[in-house]
Amino acid sequence: MPRDTDNGEGPQGPKHVAIIMDGNGRWAQARGRPRLFGHHAGARRVREVVEACPDLGIKYLTIFAFSTENWKRTQVEVAGLMSLFRRYITKETRALKERGVRVRFIGDRVRLDPKLIDLMDRLEKETAHNDLVHLTIALNYGGRDEVARATRRLAEDVAAGRLKPEDVDEETLPRYLDTCVLPDPDLVIRTSGEARISNFLLWQSAYSEYEFIDTLWPDFTAAELERLCRNYGRRERRFGAVGS
Ligand code: IPE
Ligand code: IPE
Ligand code: MG
Repeated sequence: MPRDTDNGEGPQGPKHVAIIMDGNGRWAQARGRPRLFGHHAGARRVREVVEACPDLGIKYLTIFAFSTENWKRTQVEVAGLMSLFRRYITKETRALKERGVRVRFIGDRVRLDPKLIDLMDRLEKETAHNDLVHLTIALNYGGRDEVARATRRLAEDVAAGRLKPEDVDEETLPRYLDTCVLPDPDLVIRTSGEARISNFLLWQSAYSEYEFIDTLWPDFTAAELERLCRNYGRRERRFGAVGS
């Protein structure tokens, strides 16, 4: 029986972990296989990571699955990824429901296939009553795109007289972001040795701790997540103040 994550015990681990799941292509290449082989192996890692969350005290897990820039890849890779997302949702719905996982998607849906959008909507609805782990999947997500879309909606509210320009402050914009119901990530992990954030959660990660690790995403394990959570517990987050 999974236990609740809000137990208040033990060292302070991250409540919200966000992961840039990178390195699938290189993992496949190292095995002489096509890139999509790596993406399938990568998708299979997600379940173990989600299942590890309750014991690590992680209430929110956000994963970067497809960026607004990833459309630049070959048509074969993009189509393969889109079909993988459809398969992932169909295959994982039952386990996610049973394990108390609430799933949300962030990103711009407009460019996605209607069949995929339908599956995403259904998974969100079918898991809406769950509360053990909140899994957010960033699909056709870009931080700049998200801020631009949020700003557009904010401007519409100003134009319609629902919001005064002088009332816009740091608390206002996040209410228009795709992540409006989520806390900011405490820890952002990027696999595959690249030390960049590639347009992920730009606003939300302003004060997140970062871990850039060499492991390629298809090799990432729950044990590694646990190690990173322990490291996080040893860091002092100062938020601009003086340390203790
Ligand atoms: C991450 O792996 C998955 C997506 C971006 C969809 P990559 O496909 O970027 O793998 P590398 O970086 O080429 O190894
Ligand atoms: C970031 O990885 C996007 C995802 C993991 C979905 P990329 O592989 O697309 O990022 P870049 O191109 O190396 O910056
Ligand atoms: Mg990559």
